[in-house]
Amino acid sequence: MVKLGVNIDHIATLRQARKGQFPDPVYAASICEKAGCDSIVAHLREDRRHINDNDIRRLRQSVKTRFNLEMSISAEIVDIACLVKPHQATLVPEKRKELTTEGGLDILKQKSKIKKVVKKLTGSGIEISLFIDPDKKQISAVTETGAKIIELHTGKYAAAKTQSQRNKLLQELAKAASFAQSLGLTVAAGHGLDYNNAQAIAKIPEIQELNIGYSIICRGIFIGLETAVKEMLKHTR
Ligand code: PXP
Repeated sequence: MVKLGVNIDHIATLRQARKGQFPDPVYAASICEKAGCDSIVAHLREDRRHINDNDIRRLRQSVKTRFNLEMSISAEIVDIACLVKPHQATLVPEKRKELTTEGGLDILKQKSKIKKVVKKLTGSGIEISLFIDPDKKQISAVTETGAKIIELHTGKYAAAKTQSQRNKLLQELAKAASFAQSLGLTVAAGHGLDYNNAQAIAKIPEIQELNIGYSIICRGIFIGLETAVKEMLKHTR
């Protein structure tokens, strides 16, 4: 059965709208775990636009499943990860102006830097996953970095405009997953997955984990909104 990691960044996005204490991503993580997810994912971005340093320290203490810290390879963030010691770190490319992670890491271009970061984080007892596009050359290059896990970027598949394009991208992901497993890598997938498109990815036998955030948080709002309004009416009438 494919595992599910829930990304809770956007609980913190909502909190940052008022720069207060609520909603608390750590509390959200506990609800996700109670619901049966296998890990909690949070991205400490260099600009701290949602998750902050205190959140990841608190998550490390409170997460009972596995805490997967999504992060760039910048020296500042790597040092923080070595102190906080999440169970896993997923290395992603990061650009200041992007709305969300665009594209996978270019391992071929930055192999020696990634190798050093993997060594440092592994030395702190952290398992490493590299977020990459479903590309054979990138997958092969992973084996030279010391990382044992990859997360395949499903963003293009999720954004496909036609069924034939989606099928083609699904086949690409399936081939990439099979190739990665043949090299001894553990394979995860994520980005842009939702209640319509996640099932086909979950059926790829080599994919062991899906990491999903935005669609779950969005759905959570609508599932909970009716109860929230009813509760307020009860309090005030
Ligand atoms: N995996 C990685 C590496 C990501 O960068 C993200 C987005 O933060 C996700 C999974 C989750 O993507 P989404 O929020 O679109 O489900």
